[in-house]
Amino acid sequence: MVCVLGPDLRTCRDALEMAVRAPSVHNTQPWRWRIRPDGIELRADTRRQLTATDPLARAMVVSCGAALHHLEVAFAVLGWGVRITRCPDPADPDLLASLTFSPRAVSETDVQLAAAVMLRQSDRRRFPAGLLPAGSVRAISSAASRHGAAARVIPDRLLPQLADPMREAAVRHATDADYLAELAEWSGCRGATEGVPARNTPPARSDAELPVRAFVDSELREHTSMPDAAQWLVVCTTHDDRISQLRAGEATSAMLLKATHLGLATSLQSEPLGMLDLRDQIRGSFLHQCAFPHIMIRVGAMPTTATPLHSTPRRPVDEVIELP
Ligand SMILES: Cc1cc2nc3c(=O)[nH]c(=O)nc-3n(C[C@H](O)[C@H](O)[C@H](O)COP(=O)(O)O)c2cc1C
Repeated sequence: MVCVLGPDLRTCRDALEMAVRAPSVHNTQPWRWRIRPDGIELRADTRRQLTATDPLARAMVVSCGAALHHLEVAFAVLGWGVRITRCPDPADPDLLASLTFSPRAVSETDVQLAAAVMLRQSDRRRFPAGLLPAGSVRAISSAASRHGAAARVIPDRLLPQLADPMREAAVRHATDADYLAELAEWSGCRGATEGVPARNTPPARSDAELPVRAFVDSELREHTSMPDAAQWLVVCTTHDDRISQLRAGEATSAMLLKATHLGLATSLQSEPLGMLDLRDQIRGSFLHQCAFPHIMIRVGAMPTTATPLHSTPRRPVDEVIELP
């Protein structure tokens, strides 16, 4: 027994096994979890910050937020409700959350979301047109509001305005030696426990298409050669502090799991959001300067005939847990 009047150590470990399935920038898994007698603490593992890709550590904190929501989903299906205190110690900014527990009944939604944790994967292939059920994108974006964030759906006619900052980010990164070294270290991986595997990324797109982040040694075959029909959403909050970044990650997780439950495919894009001027451009174009963007989600529907993706690896959970 580790958590007094709460889940035992085995339950905590089972929940953390699910939490680490969360998406993270370049699959860095930048989190540490301390199991305490009275709860669990989530800490950013700053040694895993991508200093060239993510100089302000926004993507690191968003990644931790996604894992925090995954953990909440995991505990819910194991019969425990969590009470989360975000950034509990201003003197210790890397302590992102502390959680305490109380028993609760498991609902059908809890089971659906937990199943989605195990099924969700980043699908970076082009999505075919005409397969998204009406109302599904609205249902996904509304999942953000329960987590103190919002999601703005980008209408297709405005996608050219997104292409500019995406292309500019790619152009700058193409000559940024530090960025390229980080990309080579964290992508094109085969058989590792971290990083983005070569078999999960398709080759770079043509110049005529909306650019997305390019990875190293990409091996994934596209399902269609038709233009990508993804629907894009921008996840945003009204403030831009660490708690907001954490909440944006939680909201992102909630949206991805909702989409997965609906049978839809998703992937994330953050390349221009690591550059302040390009982030401002996206903020001005889509959020009327009144909210702060943290990450973008592509949503689409893949036909059942599409080749299944390989699951991305994770570090063993014992590497990220600290026991009392
Ligand atoms: C904050 C954040 C930023 C991300 N940025 C990108 C991105 O720019 N391009 C991309 O293809 N994937 C991006 N991802 C997705 C990760 O690469 C992916 O989650 C990770 O490789 C694990 O794979 P999985 O999502 O299939 O589990 C991002 C994820 C997070 C949480």
